[in-house]
Amino acid sequence: MQVKTPEQSRTIMTDLVLPSETNPLNNLFGGELLARMDRAASIAARRHSRRIVVTASVNHVAFNRAVPLGSVVTVEAKVSRAFKTSMEVFLDVWIEDRESGDRAKANEAIYTFVAVDETGRPIPVPEVQPETKLEKERFDAALRRKQLSLLLAGKIKPSQASELKALFD
Ligand SMILES: CC(C)(COP(=O)(O)OP(=O)(O)OC[C@H]1O[C@@H](n2cnc3c(N)ncnc32)[C@H](O)[C@@H]1OP(=O)(O)O)[C@@H](O)C(=O)NCCC(=O)NCCS
Repeated sequence: MQVKTPEQSRTIMTDLVLPSETNPLNNLFGGELLARMDRAASIAARRHSRRIVVTASVNHVAFNRAVPLGSVVTVEAKVSRAFKTSMEVFLDVWIEDRESGDRAKANEAIYTFVAVDETGRPIPVPEVQPETKLEKERFDAALRRKQLSLLLAGKIKPSQASELKALFD
């Protein structure tokens, strides 16, 4: 199966924050941002695998910075690593300054998608070949995150989380 770079799955979604998408402080609802990230991540996973993909897990979300009403928000998604049938997708969220056009990092998230056939059964996906320093760092840490996610979901035992154990050795 053809190996792909994170760049080949890169997906960028830019949209405004409208009044119906905000909380009483006039900032974007967390759930609205989660939905935008899920859409961008699913397109990235689809571009990587060229298959039907489903969200298996939301591994990490950090709402570091509020996103005010009227902001222009850009969600950037890339497949950071692929395993057998699952893909880790890394998301970076940016807000654009109205006057200068400069972008400031607002949030980050990591989702896991699984490629499935028409009956919903997991099927293999291409490997990822990281290119940049950041892509390599994200690739290297992805197995640890996968094991943590499986451990928290009760799908593996602590003794099977070799990468996590290595952190404490
Ligand atoms: C995701 C799904 C296909 C996994 O099916 P499954 O029977 O658990 O299949 P497997 O155990 O073979 O797991 C498939 C892959 O997903 C990974 N996976 C499963 N659960 C995971 C989790 N919580 N975190 C990280 N990876 C996970 C497995 O490690 C495996 O990866 P690999 O093949 O790359 O090694 C299945 O649970 C599903 O269809 N869930 C519903 C998806 C959905 O509807 N999402 C939208 C929610 S509204």
